[in-house]
Amino acid sequence: MKILVLNGPNINMLGIREPDVYGTQSFSALLELLEQVGREEDLEIVQYQSNHEGCLVDQIQAAYGRFDGIVINPAAYTHTSIAILDALKAVGLPAVEVHISDVRQRESFRQVSYPGMACVKTIMGKGLEGYREAILFLKNNYA
Ligand code: DQA
Repeated sequence: MKILVLNGPNINMLGIREPDVYGTQSFSALLELLEQVGREEDLEIVQYQSNHEGCLVDQIQAAYGRFDGIVINPAAYTHTSIAILDALKAVGLPAVEVHISDVRQRESFRQVSYPGMACVKTIMGKGLEGYREAILFLKNNYA
């Protein structure tokens, strides 16, 4: 099974950005976790991070016919991006939304998720472990 893990803006700043909100683990630690899960679960996992909305849309489109599922943390685009929502709907791949923080407990402007409307599941507030849970959910339900 081949899974695309997409990360939106500022996720590359993990460990530096707002550690009280996102924890002290670095982006490299996230990449290591993904590699480890791929090895342990015998999955092909490809990670792509971008600070640009259109690049994320391009990657979702390119996943069509190449990947079996998508794990996506759209970061701030969660709350604004109909383009990412439409791209997920266009390719029709099972997608799981991940948020490191518990956005439900945060500002009112974070209470809407456009990409989440095209996702089969949302995991939030579990730190980097949320990515593992999302990948396992796809493996257990869509392999
Ligand atoms: C986030 C939550 C978003 O509201 C925020 O803009 C992010 C990260 C999270 O992983 O908790 O950049 O998606």
